Amino acid sequence: AGAEVEGYNEPSVNSHVNGEYAKINWDVLGFGLIPTDYMYIMNCSKDQHFSQGTLTPFGKIEVNPSSGILNYGQGLFEGLKAHRTANGRILLFRPEENAMRMKVGAKRMCMQAPTVEQFVNAVKQTVHSNKRWVPPPGKGAMYIRPLLMGSGPVLGVAPASEYTFITYASPVGNYHKGVLNLIVEEKFRRAIPGGTGGVKAVTNYAIIYKPIAEAKAKGFTDVLFLNAEKYIEEVSTTNIFLVKGNEILTPPTSGTILPGITRKSIIEITHVLGYQITSTRWYELEQTTSTRCYELEEITSTRYLLIVKERAIPVGELFDAEEVFCTGTAVGVNSVNSITYQDTRIAYKRGAGTVGQKLYEMLTGIQTGRIEDKMGWTVEL
Ligand code: COI
Repeated sequence: AGAEVEGYNEPSVNSHVNGEYAKINWDVLGFGLIPTDYMYIMNCSKDQHFSQGTLTPFGKIEVNPSSGILNYGQGLFEGLKAHRTANGRILLFRPEENAMRMKVGAKRMCMQAPTVEQFVNAVKQTVHSNKRWVPPPGKGAMYIRPLLMGSGPVLGVAPASEYTFITYASPVGNYHKGVLNLIVEEKFRRAIPGGTGGVKAVTNYAIIYKPIAEAKAKGFTDVLFLNAEKYIEEVSTTNIFLVKGNEILTPPTSGTILPGITRKSIIEITHVLGYQITSTRWYELEQTTSTRCYELEEITSTRYLLIVKERAIPVGELFDAEEVFCTGTAVGVNSVNSITYQDTRIAYKRGAGTVGQKLYEMLTGIQTGRIEDKMGWTVEL
């Protein structure tokens, strides 16, 4: 095994011209691949550790036709963003969380995984070498895609003999075009208990193309998956939250739901540090990790207080919610306009003054350096 990478190594390749932007129209970014200059690549054999990787020009890779990824879907991916702040700094959002999630996923998929340090180093090198593709403030973000795959040949159904970790990046704008009108999916399932729904396996994604295509053919934007007992799970690429009075509800991540990092951040913003929302502004309460919601309630009983609850949500509760919003790295926080369940369309509040809007502002404020990061979530490049 090669030496493990400790901390951040200065990249050997720099963006073409420091401080200069790539020559594209930054006003029309959507969520599609815009190839950038470099990718980071690292290999290892089964039962070995990843060793030092390298930056290489972004492009095609050679893959064995008999590789574990192509034949049996032995692969995981991650997604995270880098934002440019108004004063020109570049901030990554919680990259260690992605690294740790990949390690958990790799155990489930019987794969070798990079260490947290190696993962974060790869992400930093990828962003640094593609700096000119990080959009100007307010125009979008750089989406970074770490990919772990069984690249060695297999024929019998078994873990591959080699693993490849690649990190590439693309500038992106909004994931969803227009408002979100969801339909509750009653025929297809995204995940089953004991399956891989709780990890970011590549195989979780192609299976949702058909339900999405059927929903789009009926005029909806996306689907909301349920479990077999008709409890709410998640939207195809995002977690989901309901707002009912002063409660924010989201299903617990008990194996069939992806433990989203944006989901976790929203819970932590609201729950741990005790931010509360009033109709006009944010109040930050006592900032101690031991602060609990009930304590906050006493302190602030006269103000509007939000409490996050992770609990099973029967589909019927969609009718009682005032607001619904989706969270994910690609989407950020996005308020839902309507959900249709068994031919009944339920409309939700969106826009100015809503909880979803305020959480969006809070999250993007921290991510883009507009709001001071008291959580220690951002990592400067
Ligand atoms: C992300 O938000 O990073 C996702 O996983 C969605 C992606 C499949 C576009």
